[in-house]
Amino acid sequence: MTNSASDSEFLAKIEATRREALDALRDARDAVSLEKARVKYLGSKGLVGELSKGMKALDPAARPEAGRAVNQLRAETDAAFAALQKSFQAQEDPREFLDVTLPGRRSPLGHAHLINQTSAEICSIFALMGFSITEGPEIETDYYNFEALNFPADHPSRDMQQSLFVGEKLLLRTHTSCVQIRTMEKTPPPVWIVVPGKTYRRDDDLTHSPMFNQIEGLAVDSKITMADLKGVLTEFARQFFGEGAKIRLRPSFFPFTEPSAEVDVACVSCGGRGCRICKDSGWLEVLGCGMVNPALYKHVNYDPQKVSGFAFGIGVDRMAMLKYRLDNIGRFYQGDARHARQFPS
Ligand code: PHE
Repeated sequence: MTNSASDSEFLAKIEATRREALDALRDARDAVSLEKARVKYLGSKGLVGELSKGMKALDPAARPEAGRAVNQLRAETDAAFAALQKSFQAQEDPREFLDVTLPGRRSPLGHAHLINQTSAEICSIFALMGFSITEGPEIETDYYNFEALNFPADHPSRDMQQSLFVGEKLLLRTHTSCVQIRTMEKTPPPVWIVVPGKTYRRDDDLTHSPMFNQIEGLAVDSKITMADLKGVLTEFARQFFGEGAKIRLRPSFFPFTEPSAEVDVACVSCGGRGCRICKDSGWLEVLGCGMVNPALYKHVNYDPQKVSGFAFGIGVDRMAMLKYRLDNIGRFYQGDARHARQFPS
């Protein structure tokens, strides 16, 4: 046999091996027969390797062409094998690999938002003191948000509330105090309620968000005095912030309470000595309160001679910020899981 004859025979052999290898790979019906075909052609003692070795017997001038053909054969079969292997993996039935003796994989559980946790905690403190929990609508009428709460039309006290109107006489409630009227309208005294809910104002900075959360408190009964109000709030502050918590009442103004007060707690950060958080005053303002203004009773058919009461409104966001030492209210509402995950319930 001449050299050139054996050279062209060698090329024909490469071509035959190529077809055979590709057919064998494509005919494989499962991962096991595919692996067998791979070993036969591409394995360390496989046919493609044999062809590489066989090149030594060739005329040196014919080797480059034969080498290129063998390399191409290897690349092509390699690629076909990889693609087929991938498709077998994708088709594989996961049940075949299910080991029922392994412990289960726990799917991560979410938890209540920090604001909702705080709101629930505050409500349960009052519930244990005998208050029941009720709610009211977030879109309110001018009547419940202002008029029945003794804000006269065009009175400047309405300006404090930076309302968001959604119609001529409809607005997003600026506080939960509306539910004081709604409840007294429906229920004869005595009334002991707390009202958690969302409230809205045209405010937006580090400590104010256009949507925020309040908890209203209302107690109307016989012989309720300001001492009851202070007692209830002192006990609340102790339970929420800890045994040593102190509060003070400062005179203030709300149209629906008389007298009215602003409640401060001794700074939770410095204990009252003065620091950055309390702006060196030693105190933090946490809520508004007062004795129910008897002017409200005429709207709900209560007899001011027989009943008296107190009311308060707690800013939930502020309470959560103080308790967890946060300085930007916006973080509550950006939906960032990295923030939420820091406060597991
Ligand atoms: N509604 C008042 C506010 O949002 C708070 C408040 C409630 C004051 C009840 C007194 C009594 O600012």
